[in-house]
Amino acid sequence: MTNQKENGKRENRKKLKKGMLKSRLVQRANIPAMKKVEEEVLECIIGQDEQVKKILTAVYRTMYFPSIKANILIIGNSGTGKTATLEQIAKQLHIPYTTEDATKYTQEGYIGANVEEMLYNLYENANHDIRLAQKGMIIIDEIDKKAEVPEQDKTISGVEVFKSLLKIIEGTTIKLKLPKNENTVEIVDFDTSNLIIVCLGSFSDLKKIRDKRLNVSQVGFKKEHVMGKGERAYVKEDLVEYGMIEEFAGRIDTIVEMNILSKEDLVRILKESKLSIFYRYEQELRKRNITLQYDHSLFEQIAEKSFNPKTGARELSNTVNYIFENILYEVFTNPETYSKCKLLSGIVEDNRKYKLS
Ligand SMILES: Nc1ncnc2c1ncn2[C@@H]1O[C@H](COP(=O)(O)OP(=O)(O)O)[C@@H](O)[C@H]1O
Ligand SMILES: [Mg+2]
Repeated sequence: MTNQKENGKRENRKKLKKGMLKSRLVQRANIPAMKKVEEEVLECIIGQDEQVKKILTAVYRTMYFPSIKANILIIGNSGTGKTATLEQIAKQLHIPYTTEDATKYTQEGYIGANVEEMLYNLYENANHDIRLAQKGMIIIDEIDKKAEVPEQDKTISGVEVFKSLLKIIEGTTIKLKLPKNENTVEIVDFDTSNLIIVCLGSFSDLKKIRDKRLNVSQVGFKKEHVMGKGERAYVKEDLVEYGMIEEFAGRIDTIVEMNILSKEDLVRILKESKLSIFYRYEQELRKRNITLQYDHSLFEQIAEKSFNPKTGARELSNTVNYIFENILYEVFTNPETYSKCKLLSGIVEDNRKYKLS
């Protein structure tokens, strides 16, 4: 067994030298252990542990059980880590992925071409390896915007886009045109049945729909009945009522609801996440031999200033960028001058409060 592994590795090294393995993208035969991937993702993504677990399980399900497709829907406010979670998972798994914005897709009579475009982007990200691309991930962002089209316009845009997406959701084979050289295109069959499809959206008013449904079904419950976690979950009917077409909602097999990030979560993102924008500044300055000094209460102040349930962790980067604006100006205009940068109290409100030496 070990021998076989060793031989395999040697073969890979040979291929790598010959340029046959173009990247670290791997075949699904070498799927990394799920626990390891989970740990790596949780080093980046804060406050979404259960969500990460659920998404990973659905992703692994389709990798281990290829006959079961994964069509995942992630519902959550802006800045809660939807895109970041998916990108981390794809990176850890070394699978190709593409992030597509649903709002870009309109009917315009070119629907087929649009879905083809997604597949083509995935194919490019898979280093033009169709076999790898077929086992990749397509992230469709802002899918809720296609459901929110006003009733009278539905046939024009929303419904048609959902219908065109059904092709990849249902797992059909699509003829994909690949430019071979300047004048010729090659047409290949792209089998979408093993793709991992993940739709993302904030679905801002979906809660109201769920509450309405739950109130109706609560009739007859005793007053002290406490709602279980499962009972609060979204169901496909909620999505249909929101405006998603039934065929599409029916194909979604995993619905994940992201947590709203608290102020404490923002502090943890700054302090602990590998994606922390503060940490990146600190690292870059250290590379220029500048040590950063600050009181740890700074993290609370940044979180306080950035906290907004509507924007989640997004505002953190604005606040941190503001803090370092003047410092960077000075560092860049006087290279190799400083070795220490002290952030003084009040810098969150006034970015002149620092001391370079
Ligand atoms: N839960 C989280 N943990 C760590 N960082 C996060 C989290 N949520 C968001 N971020 C950070 O905020 C930024 C925006 O997050 P993103 O994933 O694009 O949000 P969404 O897709 O939900 O709108 C990213 O750069 C990411 O680093
Ligand atoms: Mg996003």
